[in-house]
Formats: sequence, C-alpha cells, structure tokens
Amino acid sequence: MGFESTPCRSVRSLCLVLLLAIAGANCDVTIYQPNKQAAFTQSAGATYSGVAAYNPTSLSAPPVPSPTILTTIPIQLQNAGTPNLSVKQKGSFMGFSIEMSVTNQVLGKNSTFLQVPFLNLMANIQQRAGSVMVRVGGNTQESATLVDTLDNGRILEKNLTGVTGTTQTPPLDFTRDLLYTMSNISSFVNVHWFLGLPWFVTQPFNLGIMTAADEILGDYLLGFQAGNEPDMYALHGHRPSTYSPYDYGGEISDLLSQIASTGADPTGRSQKLLVGPNIADFAWTPEQVWDSGFVDTFSDNLAYLAVEKYPRDNCAAAFGGPNATVVDPQSVLDLYLTHDAHTTLLQPYLNSTMYAQTKGKGFLMFETNSASCGGFLGISDSFTAALWGLDYALQMAHSNFTGAMFHLGGQNVFYNPFTSPPTNESTFHQWTVGPIYYAALAMAEAIGPSNETQVLNIGVPNLSSLTPIYGIYENGAPVRVAVFNYVDDPSGANDVHAIISIAGGTIPASVKVKYLAAKTVVQKGNITWAGQTFGDNFASDGRPMGDEDIQTVTCDTTAQTCTIDVPAPGFALVFLTDAALTENAGAPSITFATTAQTKTRNTATVDAAVLATSNGYRMSEHELAGTSKAPSAARAVQAPLVAVGLAMGTVLAVVGRAI
Ligand SMILES: *[C@@H]1O[C@H](CO)[C@@H](O)[C@H](O)[C@H]1NC(C)=O
Ligand SMILES: *[C@@H]1O[C@H](CO)[C@@H](O)[C@H](O)[C@H]1NC(C)=O
Ligand SMILES: *[C@@H]1O[C@H](CO)[C@@H](O)[C@H](O)[C@H]1NC(C)=O
Ligand SMILES: *[C@@H]1O[C@H](CO)[C@@H](O)[C@H](O)[C@H]1NC(C)=O
Ligand SMILES: *[C@@H]1O[C@H](CO)[C@@H](O)[C@H](O)[C@H]1NC(C)=O
Ligand SMILES: *[C@@H]1O[C@H](CO)[C@@H](O)[C@H](O)[C@H]1NC(C)=O
Ligand SMILES: *[C@@H]1O[C@H](CO)[C@@H](O)[C@H](O)[C@H]1NC(C)=O
Ligand SMILES: *[C@@H]1O[C@H](CO)[C@@H](O)[C@H](O)[C@H]1NC(C)=O
Ligand SMILES: *[C@@H]1O[C@H](CO)[C@@H](O)[C@H](O)[C@H]1NC(C)=O
Ligand SMILES: *[C@@H]1O[C@H](CO)[C@@H](O)[C@H](O)[C@H]1NC(C)=O
Ligand SMILES: *[C@@H]1O[C@H](CO)[C@@H](O)[C@H](O)[C@H]1NC(C)=O
Repeated sequence: MGFESTPCRSVRSLCLVLLLAIAGANCDVTIYQPNKQAAFTQSAGATYSGVAAYNPTSLSAPPVPSPTILTTIPIQLQNAGTPNLSVKQKGSFMGFSIEMSVTNQVLGKNSTFLQVPFLNLMANIQQRAGSVMVRVGGNTQESATLVDTLDNGRILEKNLTGVTGTTQTPPLDFTRDLLYTMSNISSFVNVHWFLGLPWFVTQPFNLGIMTAADEILGDYLLGFQAGNEPDMYALHGHRPSTYSPYDYGGEISDLLSQIASTGADPTGRSQKLLVGPNIADFAWTPEQVWDSGFVDTFSDNLAYLAVEKYPRDNCAAAFGGPNATVVDPQSVLDLYLTHDAHTTLLQPYLNSTMYAQTKGKGFLMFETNSASCGGFLGISDSFTAALWGLDYALQMAHSNFTGAMFHLGGQNVFYNPFTSPPTNESTFHQWTVGPIYYAALAMAEAIGPSNETQVLNIGVPNLSSLTPIYGIYENGAPVRVAVFNYVDDPSGANDVHAIISIAGGTIPASVKVKYLAAKTVVQKGNITWAGQTFGDNFASDGRPMGDEDIQTVTCDTTAQTCTIDVPAPGFALVFLTDAALTENAGAPSITFATTAQTKTRNTATVDAAVLATSNGYRMSEHELAGTSKAPSAARAVQAPLVAVGLAMGTVLAVVGRAI
C-alpha cells in the first residue's frame, strides 16, 4: 500500500503525518529519493552517498546471550502420527512481490528484452520447487491504466501530469506488452503470476487488465488482487471514514456485475480468480471481514484469501520531515534475531488460517518484508534478513499460510531480494542478490516439489527463541529438519548441537546437510547456501557461483541419533533420506547466460560477456546486435552443459547447468 514518494515530496508534511500515524507498520512505498537511514552510519558507509540498495554500512553484531542458552538440543521426531502438522505446502511457498512501477527494470524492457538475471533467479527456485509465484502490484496498481501505446515503445510509464493532491499516487500507464513480457518469462521458467486490479475508482472499474491478462497469461495467471490494503483506504482519503468490510464487499459485487455487463471476462475464468481482502490489519481485523459474510458470499469468486503485514516500518528514514524520529537500526537489530518476532506477528492470524481451511481456501501473505518503507540499513541487507526471512517463511508455513510474497522495489530500498543495476551503470554492473533471495532458495529446498510437505515448528523443553527448529514431513513421515542459530559468536561456545532421533523409525548411517552461512549476522554480500554464492553488490548474473557443498554427517547407529552442528550464526537443512535430498536438488537446472557480443561500440574496458549478461536493456540502446537462433524447448533440457540458443530478440540465452 501506501504512497508513491514522488507526490509525497510535494506534499511532504501531509505524507509524513499520515505515515507516522500508521500504527503497526503497514505501509509500503516505492521510494525514489535518497533514504535518510545513513543518519546512523557506523563504519564503512560513513561517507557513502549513493543509493540505499548498495549502502555498505554495517551494524555491530549483538552480544552473546547471557545467561547461556540451551545449545545441545534433543530433537525427538516421530516416524508417524505427529500431531498439529501444517496444511500441505508447495515448494513455491516463498514468492516475490514486485512493485508494478519497477517491472520494466526487473522483468525486462519489453517482451523481447527480458532480464536474463531475472530468468536465472527464477530458474534456481523452479529447479528446487517446481514453480515460482510472483505478484506484480502494490500501491502503483491502484491507478494503473492499460493504454494502446507509449512513447518510445515503453511498456510502462508514470503519468505525472495526472497526479493530484488527493490520490498521491501517479497514475501508471502500461501496455499489453508488459503482459507479454510476463508470459514470455513463463515460457522460459515456470513463473505463475498475481496481478492487481485498480481499485481506487469503482464506478466504473477499469477492467482492461483483467481481459488482457486472461487472454495473454492464461493458466499462468494465479489471481487478481481485489484492492490493496482496503482497510487503509479511508486513512488515505480514497474512501469516506465510514468505509467498512461491508462496503468493500459491496464493491466486489459491483465488480462482478460490471464484469457481467461489459463482457470483460469472456472465458469466465477471471471472475473466479479474485484474491481478497488483502487487509493490513490496520482499521479492520480479519475476523471483521469474515463476519461480514465475505467468504461465503463470494466463495465462487475467491481463489485465495490474503493479508499483508510488515513487522514494523522505517518510514521516517524514507521520508524525513520536521518531526520524524528516524529509528537507529542498531536499536532494532535484535528484534530480527529471534523466533519470537514471528510467533508474535503471526498469532493474530491463526484463527483466520483455521477459518480458511474450513472454507477450503488458501491463505496468502500477499506482501511482506522486514520493514515497510524500504527496510532497515544493516538489517534488511545483511545475513540477519536471510535467517529472519527463512524462519518467518517456515513459521508462516507452520501457521497454515499457503504462500508469502516478499516485496521488492527500486534502488532506494534496503530489503530487495534482488536489484537490477541503475540504468546508467547497467553496461558494467550486474545484479545484486540480497539476503531474502537466499532465504527463498533455502525455503524452496526445505519444502521441495512434492506438494505433500507439511511443516511443524518443534517445541523442545527450555529451547531458546534464538534457536528455532522445524520438522518437515512428507506423507506424515519426517524427511527434513531445519535448525537455526541466531547467535553471533565466533568462539564456537554457542554453536548448536542438534541431536536428532526418530521414534518408531531407524536412524540412517549418515545424513546430508546444507548450510546457509555467513561469518556474522551483520555481513553484507557473499552469503552462501550449500557453499554457493551470488557474491557481493553488482556481482551476479543470477546463477549461483562456486561448487555446491553438501556435508555428510555420520550418525550414531547404536544410540540411534544424528548430531548436527550449526554454527553461531547459521542455519542447517538436514536431509534424513537420500530421496529427501534428490527430490528437490536433483531436478535438472535451467539457467540462461547471454553470449558474448561480436561487435561493441562501448568502452573497451568492458568484457563483452559481462556486458551482455548484465542488461539487455542497455545493449539495445547501444545497438549491440546479438545473434538470434531459433527458439528451443528450454524446459526439456536434461543434461549438463547443453547449450541451446533461445531467441529473445537480440538477447541470446544459453541454457546450461549451474548446480
Ligand atoms: C496442537 O496445537 C495446539 C495449538 O497450538 C496446542 O494447544 C496443542 O497442545 C497441540 N497439540 C499437540 C498434541 O501438540
Ligand atoms: C494448522 O492446521 C492444522 C490442520 O488443521 C492444525 O492441526 C494445526 O494445529 C494448525 N496449526 C496452527 C499453528 O494453527
Ligand atoms: C523491445 O525494445 C527493442 C529496443 O528498444 C525494440 O527493438 C523491440 O522492437 C522492442 N520489442 C517490442 C515487442 O516492442
Ligand atoms: C495523463 O494524465 C492526464 C490527466 O489525467 C490525462 O489527461 C492524459 O491523457 C494522461 N496521459 C497518458 C499518456 O495517459
Ligand atoms: C515474446 O512476445 C512477443 C510479443 O511481443 C512474441 O512475438 C514473441 O514470440 C515472444 N517470444 C518468446 C520467446 O516467447
Ligand atoms: C475466529 O474467526 C471466526 C470467523 O470470523 C469468528 O467467528 C471467531 O469468533 C474467531 N475466534 C476468535 C477466538 O477470535
Ligand atoms: C512538529 O512538532 C511540533 C512541536 O511538537 C508541532 O507544533 C508541529 O505541528 C509538528 N509538525 C508536524 C508536521 O507534525
Ligand atoms: C548513476 O546515477 C546515480 C544517481 O544519479 C549516480 O549516483 C551515479 O554516480 C551514476 N553513475 C554513473 C557511472 O554515472
Ligand atoms: C504440484 O501441484 C502443481 C499444481 O499446483 C502441479 O503442477 C504439479 O505437477 C504438482 N507436483 C506434483 C509432484 O504432483
Ligand atoms: C529446564 O531448565 C530448568 C532450569 O534451568 C531445569 O531445571 C530443567 O531441568 C530444564 N528442563 C529440561 C527438560 O532440560
Ligand atoms: C565478497 O567476496 C569478494 C570476492 O571474494 C570480495 O572481494 C569481497 O570483499 C567480499 N565481500 C565481503 C563483504 O565479504
């Protein structure tokens, strides 16, 4: 939800008052102005003046816990009959939410200039999970208008002339080619999409996106978001102060009758794909919406129920203002390094996720991340966020959410799972992969592609909230175990020793373990998952670098235990059977690399392969012709190092094997 910062700048004080009035940190924004978080610089970034996404400033790791915590942890699993397992979860549980206004930077310039790093990042998840969920929307969806053409063949453009004092969000114009861009992506990697319906104006609704998306995306379309945080509409002046869940329901009725009267849904498919109520738990509780009869009334039309929630906001740093109290990230770091963060945030939704089950609906966290208004410097962009995001995702799965989309914006935020380089640097810089992406990769493997996976947050007597543990089950039997260690202690004194046993089952002679690792919770860049990394800022073409490192741990077959060590800090995913490992790590990988260019007018210092890989967008502007070959069936690739040309306009992709 929230505000576009461009209009906010012109009405700064109004914006600020509203933002600060928002209790519970619901608001998110796409920010296009410098973030003021550097007010609390600690070390490297003291003189940094660039955009937020690449700010190198790091925090100080928190002290080791005192008194000491339980570090030798018995994990007693049961081979069958474990109570309280979650609903069955999909490997695509952890998806991405892309602010609509930045899709031309992240997905591609147009349907023939796709961002190859994006394809690779999605392919990595697909390899482990089978598919990927991506939501295109956010506050900029609310006034998005489908137009026939835009200048210079652009696929989207902010119409700043349309900004008025009350709407505060510049209307976004987009063309059908944005939808073709999405569908072309889905033809390479198994990405399925959510789109937002513009909801500020309901008389009449602008249904252009619905008709076009159904036609162009077909089965790759998962749902249409019916309103973005409607319980904040009154606060922002989009609805009268009396606006209630009943009024929102009335608008859904209006939508359906307008779809019928205009013929906007010729296949009859779109009107069954609504996602609601997408509230921020700000002015309305979920129960108030359920008790309005929402789900029963629109049961045939609702594909998913959904909410949006951020644990807190960093809006003062994003917007400043005369009375803004900018939060020192160091003062909130420890709030991200504890499992309690997740149980507290999710507890208010447990009744709703049970309710959703009784109605046969999935329940999504439609937009979230570490803090709204861009996240916190040193937290959202460090290893802390990788551990936090993975624990959060697993706790949502345990809590019977059925998916969660982690938000990304432009250059001026800290929390991006991945960031394309600034346009003016895209000829020599590659992408920056953030900690949340590593969490998504590990989550995809934790759940895997079986569709039979259930998750349980395991209680152990005297367990510290610094060392949460999950059992992961398929067909009722434990297959994987996830062990976190949020403590930062290089001495080894706080390493976890998790002693796994299986009642009613037999411990294997050995188990395989993959680690999510960094030297400290405050480390930026160079995080590793099973030994592979996407490097530092500007270092990635979306393919993992380095050799995969899967540890083998010998078990004690006499005692019937396996002891897994987890460094402080760190995370371990333990595969209890070989099948548990191969089902999600053995799938053929598909990755894309652009080939070297034969001609370049660019500066001689730029390696052509790097140039080609970094961004097709700039290639086009410099008219660097690539080679086109006939399209080939990307997903049929089985063997490593099979090079297949994929024609994507002038971007030539090579299919190979990275992992
Ligand atoms: C199942 O979960 C509920 C709610 O958290 C709890 O009260 C109950 O004790 C759990 N049952 C078992 C057998 O652990
Ligand atoms: C999740 O749903 C399952 C199945 O209904 C239930 O047993 C379990 O207690 C629920 N978990 C939570 C945390 O509510
Ligand atoms: C995409 O952009 C390139 C370069 O601007 C252009 O040549 C191409 O025709 C565009 N493709 C579409 C489908 O508009
Ligand atoms: C931009 O908005 C203005 C005012 O709403 C409108 O008149 C104009 O047609 C819009 N321009 C485009 C390209 O959509
Ligand atoms: C991408 O979309 C365009 C429509 O602009 C279409 O002509 C083209 O065939 C698509 N390319 C691929 C590789 O699917
Ligand atoms: C749970 O949700 C249902 C449906 O809204 C409601 O009737 C019930 O009172 C709620 N229970 C609690 C404990 O909030
Ligand atoms: C800032 O604080 C001062 C003093 O408390 C108050 O008079 C003023 O109205 C506040 N301004 C804003 C924009 O909140
Ligand atoms: C790119 O633009 C940003 C923001 O205007 C600026 O800070 C940076 O120095 C520019 N980079 C280059 C290489 O010109
Ligand atoms: C899991 O479900 C998806 C549909 O949601 C389906 O496409 C896929 O084939 C299923 N996977 C398995 C292993 O059954
Ligand atoms: C839990 O901690 C208390 C106090 O330190 C101790 O007395 C008790 O034995 C512990 N329980 C277990 C199961 O370790
Ligand atoms: C990440 O690794 C690169 C290459 O080894 C190195 O140059 C860089 O300093 C590392 N960055 C951090 C934050 O460790």
